[in-house]
Amino acid sequence: MQIIKTIELMQEVSEKWRMDGNIISFVPTMGFLHQGHIELLRVGREKGDRLIMSIFVNPTQFGPKEDYEKYPRDTGGDLNNARSAGVDAVFMPTVEEMYPEGFQSTVRLEEITQHLCGKSRPGHFAGVTIVVGKLFNITKPHLAIFGEKDYQQLIVIKQMVKDLNMGIEVIGVPTVREKDGLAMSSRNNYLSSEERASALSLKKGLDLARDMVAKGERNPAKIKNAVMELILNHPFTEIDYIALCNPEKLTDIKRVDRPCLLALAVRVGNTRLIDNVILREN
Ligand code: PAJ
Repeated sequence: MQIIKTIELMQEVSEKWRMDGNIISFVPTMGFLHQGHIELLRVGREKGDRLIMSIFVNPTQFGPKEDYEKYPRDTGGDLNNARSAGVDAVFMPTVEEMYPEGFQSTVRLEEITQHLCGKSRPGHFAGVTIVVGKLFNITKPHLAIFGEKDYQQLIVIKQMVKDLNMGIEVIGVPTVREKDGLAMSSRNNYLSSEERASALSLKKGLDLARDMVAKGERNPAKIKNAVMELILNHPFTEIDYIALCNPEKLTDIKRVDRPCLLALAVRVGNTRLIDNVILREN
């Protein structure tokens, strides 16, 4: 497994792999790998001939009061996991390599970034699109693998690839969960054991909504209220948003009469967690 720190070398390696006729899969990450990331690597390994993973905690996608400084890091563990998952190259640049002095470009998507996490984390998706756009130009993949756990991120990237004709197939992978249902996340590491118990309320809320829809409930307000009540019955929880929306546009829906996205962002103590499910009528 090659460990590559410079943009120039990564581009050279990718270009050579392409010239040799390989299909390149790419999994971008911020490191501190868990089974969710490992599942993306498994899919990438299966679908491509060469697998590249990046580890880069991207400062431009964190707000001024967010956890950039304390975001968990474990390079040694990540490299071991990458090796076991069959990664061919890990790209791990420094911040200076990615954002040299004088850097000034942005990639801005107008509509789908205005909803859900875009509302509560202004600037977040601009940070994601600029870094992922750069990583795509650096790793030159045919396929890029993202998790459905970050549903909005996945569709933002798909839209960017389409709008900018990047010619990359973006593949979404279902959310990997702990045995008790909690969606895996590097941020779960911040939770105390009491908070960890309350964090389960997100998945319980999604399950409750699914049951309500299965039993015929079609009113978004009733579903959202029930989910809110369930979550707030757990200590340390504070709701950022509960949204029932169109899965492509992320606009609020008036009635559950076609597949729709239920997306949650909940603060448990100081940790902000997200989860989502697609609700279908049957
Ligand atoms: P990070 O949070 O490290 O996540 C990297 C990838 O893993 C994302 O595509 C995310 O959706 C996926 N992922 C996280 N938890 C998952 C789970 N439980 N099941 C399945 N997939 C999961 O997302 C980012 O990093 C960054 O925004 C990045 C795209 C790297 C740009 O900086």
